[in-house]
Amino acid sequence: MRWSVDSVPDQAGRAVVVTGATSGLGLVTTEHLARRGAHVVMAVRDEARGRRACDHLAGRYPGTRLDVRRVDLADLDTVRDFADGLHRDGFIPEVLVNNAGVMATSRRLSPQGHEMQFATNHLGHFALTGLLLPDLRAGKDPRVVTVSSTTHRRGRIRFHDLTGERGYWGLGFYAQSKLANVLFGLELHRRLRAAGSPVRSLLAHPGYAATNLPVNGWTGVSRTLARLGNRVLAQDATTGALPQLYAAVDPQAQCGQFIGPDGILEGWGRPRVVRPGAAGVDREAARRLWEISEELTGVRFDLPPAP
Ligand SMILES: NC(=O)c1ccc[n+]([C@@H]2O[C@H](COP(=O)([O-])OP(=O)(O)OC[C@H]3O[C@@H](n4cnc5c(N)ncnc54)[C@H](OP(=O)(O)O)[C@@H]3O)[C@@H](O)[C@H]2O)c1
Repeated sequence: MRWSVDSVPDQAGRAVVVTGATSGLGLVTTEHLARRGAHVVMAVRDEARGRRACDHLAGRYPGTRLDVRRVDLADLDTVRDFADGLHRDGFIPEVLVNNAGVMATSRRLSPQGHEMQFATNHLGHFALTGLLLPDLRAGKDPRVVTVSSTTHRRGRIRFHDLTGERGYWGLGFYAQSKLANVLFGLELHRRLRAAGSPVRSLLAHPGYAATNLPVNGWTGVSRTLARLGNRVLAQDATTGALPQLYAAVDPQAQCGQFIGPDGILEGWGRPRVVRPGAAGVDREAARRLWEISEELTGVRFDLPPAP
């Protein structure tokens, strides 16, 4: 049988945080974890939109355990407030799905002065993971799933110009942020293993799925083409979310694995283990990015560097 949303095992008693749970892959991930009994915290930038998404799911699946909490991943102050709030209210997550993302935005800086795509897609998730890691450790089968993209293969980390002051291209900086997701997920895996931690770090990507992502990022003709692409070429968001669902729940998913679709060019299909691009397995870049991310976020992981 091919892996599907019906393959998600019973999640009763499991506590999960999904970032970007208002739409697209995050909403589907929330739906199928909650439907199977998980208590899901929907970590959302816009509380009203989060509430609407939550009400929609609660109406469809009465009895599901869903909470909506605000976090703007581009604003590190709200990331700290979010983590403090979970802690204060005794919510101990066992799974963190680092899913939220923006793509190909025009050049903007976050409140802390970081380039917006790098801040949202990488730095916010880096900080959130570091802040939640002590609690995650206490869970049963704890996992961190970071959502990247095939675009990471075209990315490079501009260590000399992370804010794009000397030149900015929306898609290039999206690729940088998605490469940062891969470098982070694999470096986290190595550090967790070196520390003998029970937490597993996995990566996932959806291939090409019809969501708001490209539509929100682009304007004009590009936006029209993105809409057309969603209709004609992309798979539906439910199929697109399968790799991250598999990484979050399947008993066979191993720490350090990258899960993507099994179809042609990893664009479509059901979950299987895929290989990161060459830049994604560059350990020196991963170590350097880790150190810079600790500096930029002020969040230090209690994990020694991997040997
Ligand atoms: N769709 C694809 O084909 C594709 C391909 C490769 C990778 N991905 C990855 O898949 C992930 C999910 O994207 P999607 O396709 O499901 O797109 P989407 O429908 O646009 O969903 C993105 C989610 O991220 C949230 N978000 C954006 N900025 C945020 C911030 N600063 N703080 C908190 N939440 C924020 C959005 O919230 P709002 O509702 O407030 O906007 C939304 O819930 C992303 O990491 C993306 O890079 C998608």
